[in-house]
Amino acid sequence: MATLLLLPGDGIGPEVCAEVRRVAAALVPNLVVEEAIYGGASYDAHGTPLTDEVRDRALASDAVLMGAVGGPKWADAPRHLRPEAGLLNLRKAMNVYANLRPAYCFEALAGASSLKTELVSGLDIMFVRELVGGVYFGEPRGIDVLPDGQKKGYDTALYTTSEIERAGRVAFELARGRKNKVHSAEKSNVMESGLLWKQVITELHKREYPDVELEHILADNCAMQLVRAPKQFDVIVTDNLFGDILSDAAAMLTGSLGMLPSAAIGDPNKPGLYEPIHGSAPDIAGKGLANPLAAILSFEMALRWSLKEVEAADRLLAAVKGALDSGARTRDLGGELSTVQMGDAVLCRI
Ligand code: IPM
Ligand code: MG
Repeated sequence: MATLLLLPGDGIGPEVCAEVRRVAAALVPNLVVEEAIYGGASYDAHGTPLTDEVRDRALASDAVLMGAVGGPKWADAPRHLRPEAGLLNLRKAMNVYANLRPAYCFEALAGASSLKTELVSGLDIMFVRELVGGVYFGEPRGIDVLPDGQKKGYDTALYTTSEIERAGRVAFELARGRKNKVHSAEKSNVMESGLLWKQVITELHKREYPDVELEHILADNCAMQLVRAPKQFDVIVTDNLFGDILSDAAAMLTGSLGMLPSAAIGDPNKPGLYEPIHGSAPDIAGKGLANPLAAILSFEMALRWSLKEVEAADRLLAAVKGALDSGARTRDLGGELSTVQMGDAVLCRI
């Protein structure tokens, strides 16, 4: 029997994960749902955001679904023990190198975007963000004291050929099942790692995916095009840092950050890591106001990508669409529903 490990984490994480639990029980009763402590909560209990035990349980499960990590409470913890470090260490340990972040506009929410409805209606972009390399992990990094007493802070943006290739492959494969178009975003005009990114993607395309349409785009231009004419994009492949930024911008096109899921995948035989894109939202945590749909849709991606329950995933997606079509809205979407009531709106359609 397949196992899903829930890591509710901090802030609104536990509230939205509770709704995932209810949905899982109704939709796939055979799925074993386990839970472990993680993030700031784990730091408070064990002095580390990710214990070896929880890491090993994650590696032994079929899929891992995380709620959210971090919050002002842990702002002064040493960097390597901050809740965010637990997330980065988990991504690295699971080697989930491709982060799939859909920016998909549900028809019922097209009016909720800060952009004109006609610009976002029908929007369906898939980001492939490289997730275990680049400036997030590059060495050396640090803050040193210079002889004159000044300080020097530095990070290293670094990619190898194989790291770029494996992310690129995921993007090209995905595009073949969609509109067959990939934009590769980098800053090859100023960065060496960006130039290598462009060269490797160009070669990979020529060698293995000549049937897919490829366009190179500078990351800053990509940001501009995303808010000017977002429907020109199908799949966007980019590095860890640009992917972090561009996917947040794209998320807002769809109405609310509270709507968007993500899937981090690597080796197809290994568990994937599923996370809503939103953060821990400490300002509304514990109040029952959070939108659980990003977490529920992350579960939908887990069903599809790791648990091989495609039919259940289709049913869940239809239930979420049905709930939105019926007017179900949490506060972030301009409505009044609580977290649990939004969960109910989905559950009654399963
Ligand atoms: C994300 C988040 C994380 C990241 C943080 C919480 C470390 O912003 O998943 O987009 O930067 O990757
Ligand atoms: Mg981010």
